[in-house]
Amino acid sequence: MSTTYDLIVIGAGPGGYVAAIRGAQLGMKVACIDENAELGGTCLRVGCIPSKALLESSERYYEARKGSLAEHGIGVGEVTLDLAALLARKDKVVKQLTSGVAFLFKKNGVTPYRGRGRLVASGRVEVSVAGGSTETLEAKHVLIATGSVPATIPGVVLDGDRIGTSTEALAYPTVPGHLIVIGAGYIGLEMGSVWARLGSQVTVLEYLKEFLPAVDAEIAKLAQRAFTKQGLELQLGVKVTGASAQGERVTVTYEDDGQQKSVEGDRVLVATGRRPNTEGLGARELGVKLDKRGFIEVDEHYRTAVSGVWAIGDVIPGPMLAHKAEEEGVAAVELMAGLPGHVNYDAIPGIIYTHPEVAGVGKTEQQLKSEGVPYKKGTFPFAANGRAKAMADTEGLVKILAHAETDRILGFHVIGPHASDLAAEGAVAIEFSASAEDLARSVHAHPTLSEVVKEAALAAGGRVIHM
Ligand code: NAI
Repeated sequence: MSTTYDLIVIGAGPGGYVAAIRGAQLGMKVACIDENAELGGTCLRVGCIPSKALLESSERYYEARKGSLAEHGIGVGEVTLDLAALLARKDKVVKQLTSGVAFLFKKNGVTPYRGRGRLVASGRVEVSVAGGSTETLEAKHVLIATGSVPATIPGVVLDGDRIGTSTEALAYPTVPGHLIVIGAGYIGLEMGSVWARLGSQVTVLEYLKEFLPAVDAEIAKLAQRAFTKQGLELQLGVKVTGASAQGERVTVTYEDDGQQKSVEGDRVLVATGRRPNTEGLGARELGVKLDKRGFIEVDEHYRTAVSGVWAIGDVIPGPMLAHKAEEEGVAAVELMAGLPGHVNYDAIPGIIYTHPEVAGVGKTEQQLKSEGVPYKKGTFPFAANGRAKAMADTEGLVKILAHAETDRILGFHVIGPHASDLAAEGAVAIEFSASAEDLARSVHAHPTLSEVVKEAALAAGGRVIHM
């Protein structure tokens, strides 16, 4: 016997659960399958949310410990760390949000199924529940939103303890004396920062010679300087070839300029990217096409090669970002309903939640150069902003890149306090095809960090006021 729906979503991460809710809003009868008891996917359970909780707590500890509160006239006694309490707060935040998704499902009439979903035919999904029983669901549309899983590298075998991924790094029971991070990407820098602030010596081994090549080069240079100053030991242009654990110690071997080297520490965090999660899904067997990196191929309407089967989020090509998955989920479901769903891939912010935060949307300066697009740029430092001074958080700048002739904003980059929130203005500006002058003439409240955006826009037009 099978239960019939209009839409079956496989995966309850930000892409899947948002798509399920949007489908229900549009009048569809929706089922959403996830193998985890807690809804919300990697992002809510073991990704974005717990890492941000740890970044917040560790930053407060670091501020108190390094003495920067003294600048505000605040004296503190001995600063202590209760790691168990810090981790418990993170777990509480996760619990609140995953329960929130369950509440939203109930409110919108989405039926959750706990178990592994497998496509057995077009429009038919089998859910295997822990304990061995299976249930078959049918629907006109099936949306694959199974996300991604950590990718390892040759020579490095995860042991789920000393040699682990971000999942383990969100819950180390003690502060590692020396943490070796493989990969200077989003996870490596964010989780490396957390443990460095909590007292670990952190060594980051990165294969590429260039630091954060996808970030605007001027911003990446400032970020590299800031992280190095904070004590992250960044080794670029080194290729990790192996990692092994000996009791409580670990050794990582790597090639540096043709030489074999090794470094010893207490834990290894493997943060070398993620790969699409399609194992055991039955998609390939059904005729869904995967590209050579394992991503599901879709057309511009998120349709796979099999009629009635759609895919969005980390499992299809593009940046592996929760907000990208959400937008795709909404667009795919709207397209199923005959509405004009659309995602603007030129306006997707990318953010690294370190301190200072690094955020960018649109083109980088190096991209504009290589594409031969004539541009002008305006930058403005937080050091010249009243609010940043009042906050004693003045490191960084805003950089706006606009077309040299039309003045249209093509790129928006920030390193500094609340860069993640400021990037929203850049995304809206790009979405609405704003010119630098549009931003410069918009009223920005005083005193706010957003005035740095206004001044950068003014600078693009050669008429900065406060510098
Ligand atoms: P990543 O792709 O950001 O960085 C991986 C890094 O590992 C790259 O710089 C790569 O060159 C390096 N690498 C690969 N092989 C290596 C080797 N053998 N030796 C040394 N270095 C090597 O991937 P990451 O940090 O693992 O994150 C995974 C995904 O999760 C990303 O695609 C990101 O989009 C997402 N994410 C996003 C966050 C955010 O939006 N703030 C936070 C965390 C993750």
